[in-house]
Amino acid sequence: SHKKIAIAIDGPAGAGKSSISKVVAKELQYLYIDTGAMYRAVTWAVLHEHLEVSNQKAVEALLPSLDLTMEPTDTAFKVFVRGEDITDYIRQQKINENVSTIASYKGVRQYLVERQQAMASVGGVILDGRDIGSVVLPNAELKIYLTASVEARAMRRYLEVKGTTNEQSLEDIKISVMQRDKMDKTRQESPLIQVEDAILVDSSNMTFDETVDYILHLVREQIEHE
Ligand code: CDP
Ligand code: CDP
Ligand code: CDP
Repeated sequence: SHKKIAIAIDGPAGAGKSSISKVVAKELQYLYIDTGAMYRAVTWAVLHEHLEVSNQKAVEALLPSLDLTMEPTDTAFKVFVRGEDITDYIRQQKINENVSTIASYKGVRQYLVERQQAMASVGGVILDGRDIGSVVLPNAELKIYLTASVEARAMRRYLEVKGTTNEQSLEDIKISVMQRDKMDKTRQESPLIQVEDAILVDSSNMTFDETVDYILHLVREQIEHE
């Protein structure tokens, strides 16, 4: 059958979720939704407005005025705040350092989860994040928990930013990735967990292409089941 399913991909920072989801979505002609970009966009706005990141009430009060919109295309997932495309600004270190605090706020999560579910309702979707299998799409036909050792994940991030204005030492990246993982796994609201019905994929010793092929294999197996 050619039923279009919903695919949920969760896991820690730098596991390959977004880069792999993008390729898998393209191959299947599915819609890719980068939920991390949405938490990053809110964080960008909070910093841009010079709000106190620790001030949950002020952060949550800002949400309705952001006019946060998303534009998923074949090649990118763009985020806009008040009509401005801020996609190029959301991967900076300053955002990395603050996004997990912003993502720990219940009001922020409710606001974004609602939008993610609305976007996913078209079917034939792949969403990546931390709470997709547990909260956003609890009925997804395929759930994957994509992970890798912290050394492998830090190295991948290091190679990505090396030679750019966001360059950082491998050790600093490792520390920052570990801090973010810890916050995401221990927060009260929708912590990062591997849900019972998720398939564990550890890509520590897999190349990018091997990981894509393996996930495509899992998807096709599931689609045949439907
Ligand atoms: O790309 P990377 O894995 O570094 O991060 P991301 O997927 O862009 O997510 C950035 C941050 O947003 C995460 O560290 C979480 O704090 C938060 N997040 C979340 O709480 N729930 C999601 N569904 C997606 C991201
Ligand atoms: O979204 P997430 O934070 O989970 O990771 P990502 O930003 O998609 O991937 C981080 C980097 O790891 C990217 O540069 C990927 O090309 C790379 N990667 C890899 O080298 N080998 C894999 N098996 C998976 C991802
Ligand atoms: O903002 P400006 O026109 O001076 O220059 P840009 O080349 O567009 O952006 C330079 C840097 O400013 C970006 O890498 C962002 O760090 C930051 N920026 C931002 O965060 N938000 C904006 N609305 C514009 C710039």
